[in-house]
Amino acid sequence: MKILVTGGAGYIGSHTCVELLEKGYEVVVIDNFDNSSPISVSRVEQITGKKISLYEADVRDTAVLDKIFSEHKIDCVIHFAGLKAVGESCAKPLEYYDNNLYGTLALLQAMKKHDVKKIVFSSSATVYGSPERLPLDETCKTGGTTNPYGTSKYFQEIMLRDLYASDDSWTVVILRYFNPVGAHESGLIGEDPQGIPNNLTPFIAKVAVGELKEIGVFGNDYDTPDGTGVRDYIHVVDLAKGHVSAIEGTPNNGVYTYNLGTGVGYSVLDVIKAFNKACGKELPYVIKPRRAGDIASCYADASKAKRELGWEAKLGIDDMCASLWNWQSKNPKGYKS
Ligand code: NAD
Ligand code: WQD
Repeated sequence: MKILVTGGAGYIGSHTCVELLEKGYEVVVIDNFDNSSPISVSRVEQITGKKISLYEADVRDTAVLDKIFSEHKIDCVIHFAGLKAVGESCAKPLEYYDNNLYGTLALLQAMKKHDVKKIVFSSSATVYGSPERLPLDETCKTGGTTNPYGTSKYFQEIMLRDLYASDDSWTVVILRYFNPVGAHESGLIGEDPQGIPNNLTPFIAKVAVGELKEIGVFGNDYDTPDGTGVRDYIHVVDLAKGHVSAIEGTPNNGVYTYNLGTGVGYSVLDVIKAFNKACGKELPYVIKPRRAGDIASCYADASKAKRELGWEAKLGIDDMCASLWNWQSKNPKGYKS
């Protein structure tokens, strides 16, 4: 089976390519390297000993999409390509809607034209907005998103559901990721954010390698066990395997939505402690004011994916921190090292 992976050079995409190749799938990647490097693709080839067909192009480029679908008999598309920084999306909403909405639209039009009707879509727990209840299950209310990035994910989900409603020969799998962290055990691929990271674990990793001075903990007065924000961190390798399960475990024709998380919440201080253990030093942190738009707690009910796909996260917070430290210490400047 041949899978087209959009955004396959990125953080989650590269880890998913490893899992697909190791399971015997052929992989075609389209990526414009807006937030990634071609080195990640060659590292995936190094890990697996298999080749990837790579197209350096924008997913909004309909001529390239036509070429890809003409040159390869694609069975399924996994759609990662998109912009994902919450803060940046507030400053550049039009760029986010253009990239994320038009990218998905162009892709779906090309798929329809070439009669490829199975797609796995990268959605996010952010579509739940402020959680209606915890843990979040797939029936919880969506919408009420608080930034253009989150709204773009919500709209893309609607686009996919409308498409299926118009033509039930499609198979649409919507995966709502919680907080992906960690790296492949080889230390050859990992998350490589440009500039100062917005997310907690890449920030901690940069403090650990001495690139940043101290961790800022955004608020310690939340209604959580230690007052700091609680999230459902999931190892990126577990998440990547979830995509293989999504392809293999869903019957054709339907829209299927799954949370991919562990179901366990960890606080910011829990994560710092686990990372200290992984890197063998006490990292400095200071308590800062709450970050605008943050919620106290967010964690998944991931039982639907277990029940229906036979998938569950196997790796815990210590594995996540150890693998992140392995990647960061071997590649202190990411793919530029
Ligand atoms: P990433 O930025 O590392 O990967 C996205 C990839 O898409 C990058 O390689 C980028 O160069 C590429 N890309 C972006 N726009 C493109 C375009 N128009 N054409 C071609 N390529 C393009 O991000 P990631 O963390 O791997 O996230 C992958 C997907 O998962 C995204 O859709 C993201 O919104 C979603 N997601 C991520 C998280 C997270 O915390 N990392 C959580 C939930 C959902
Ligand atoms: C985690 C916790 C912060 C940085 C984001 C997106 C979400 C999804 C995943 C894509 C919070 C605290 C953080 C720091 C801190 N992405 N924190 N100091 O906000 O849960 O989710 O990434 O879909 O849409 O919003 O992740 O890693 O930014 O924050 O104290 O320097 O760490 O307040 O409690 P978040 P995060």
